[in-house]
Amino acid sequence: MADQRANALQYARSNKEKFLSTFKEILAVPSISTDKTHMPDIQRAAEWLALQLRNLGMQKVQLFSTTQSPIVYGECLGVPAAPTVLIYGHYDVQPVDPLDLWKTGPFEPTVIGDDIFARGASDMKGQAVITLKAVESLAQTGGLPINIKWLFEGEEEVGSPNLEAFIASHTDLLACDFAVNPDSGMIGRDYPTITYGLRGLAYFELRVFGPAHDLHSGMYGGVVHNPANVLAELIAGMHDDAGRITLPGFYTSVRELSVEERQELARLPIDDKHYLEQTGVPGLYGEAGFTANEQTGARPTLDVNGLLSGFTSEGSKTVIPTWAMAKLSTRLVPDQDPEEVHQQLLRYLEQNAPDDVRWELKTLTGNPASISDRNNPAVQAMAKALESVWGQRPYFKREGGSIPVVGDMQRLLSVESVICGFGLPDDNVHAPNEKQNLPTWYRGIDAYIHFFMNLKPDSNGR
Ligand code: BES
Ligand code: MN
Repeated sequence: MADQRANALQYARSNKEKFLSTFKEILAVPSISTDKTHMPDIQRAAEWLALQLRNLGMQKVQLFSTTQSPIVYGECLGVPAAPTVLIYGHYDVQPVDPLDLWKTGPFEPTVIGDDIFARGASDMKGQAVITLKAVESLAQTGGLPINIKWLFEGEEEVGSPNLEAFIASHTDLLACDFAVNPDSGMIGRDYPTITYGLRGLAYFELRVFGPAHDLHSGMYGGVVHNPANVLAELIAGMHDDAGRITLPGFYTSVRELSVEERQELARLPIDDKHYLEQTGVPGLYGEAGFTANEQTGARPTLDVNGLLSGFTSEGSKTVIPTWAMAKLSTRLVPDQDPEEVHQQLLRYLEQNAPDDVRWELKTLTGNPASISDRNNPAVQAMAKALESVWGQRPYFKREGGSIPVVGDMQRLLSVESVICGFGLPDDNVHAPNEKQNLPTWYRGIDAYIHFFMNLKPDSNGR
């Protein structure tokens, strides 16, 4: 009997152009989840995925509507002796602003050299299409070696507000041996990577209100407390000189790094120079006593994501603004709880905001951090698959970003996720000129073919 692994890899090699044109189709859909005006595009992206699943021969393909974006499901359960894998993906993308910094249209996928540029190319339409094409390569060369269920959501980039409830109410439908989550990336193009930790998130909007309307800053400056000044002072007070966050009790639940884990993180091939190069800053900042890898992977942060107040157009206008607003978020680590952080921020504001202004705090989204079991057999199957393609064992990394579903699945389905995707550190995710490196993308398809074959009960994974 012909070797399916070899045939599937050959199929992928022969269909590179076709795979790329499928990828371009979905990249052209502006499925931005933060923006209600894009709801028709969200719907279109969901329907496109459902069509792909049907074309792959999946059964029970359906869209489940939520209060926002539909959830797409499909399954193929034809191999009773083999494990059932739940493949997760999100089809929504981040907003594209500032638009004028894009060299090509964010939804006009453009190949330049080895890269394809478009919003979502790396995060994560590219990763989702990798799994679709790996499955297609197997389906076309003898059938799937394992059982597959798919779960696509369209709200990950806004914190997956509807997914937890959906999973909780569909535990039988989603029952599986483990989940696969390709919504991630590699340390570098030559360093295959498995992500085993993700930070959580607690996201807030803080508004400070001063005078009833804008005031002449000469007539009233000095007698009213400027809400923009107050906001700046409040924010400045949220860190101390050692880069530690000052919200009362903020570090109480933070799980400390073990000596072993610190040694392991120190072996990753990313150092301060890497962070300087990737970011273009003149110097690094951070909580004293921790390396850059420790800071992004295993320490919590508090950042301003946006500020708005007063006069921001060209030229000068002498005004005391009526209000000021900041988007604030904290990245969380085990065992912090987003609601606990909300309470800590409230307490900080109660203790520090002056009485001569009024303030309001709104929670926008929150999810806890997660750590995945690295001894799961599926992780071994993925490690072997990556080694087959890259010729070296993968690195294990704790990632600074958040993927809420990983923790949801641990809690609600009692399943671990294998987190492995093929984005690169310079892909400009969430920024202008997002891209996906194509040679890495094709390797990703090969890796997932190996991975699924390695899961076959009688496979002698290579
Ligand atoms: N794919 C990212 C998470 C990620 C980033 C994984 C970098 C690995 C490396 C994901 O789509 C994302 O950006 N999530 C948001 C989630 C938030 C809105 C709850 C994030 O981390 O900001
Ligand atoms: Mn993503």
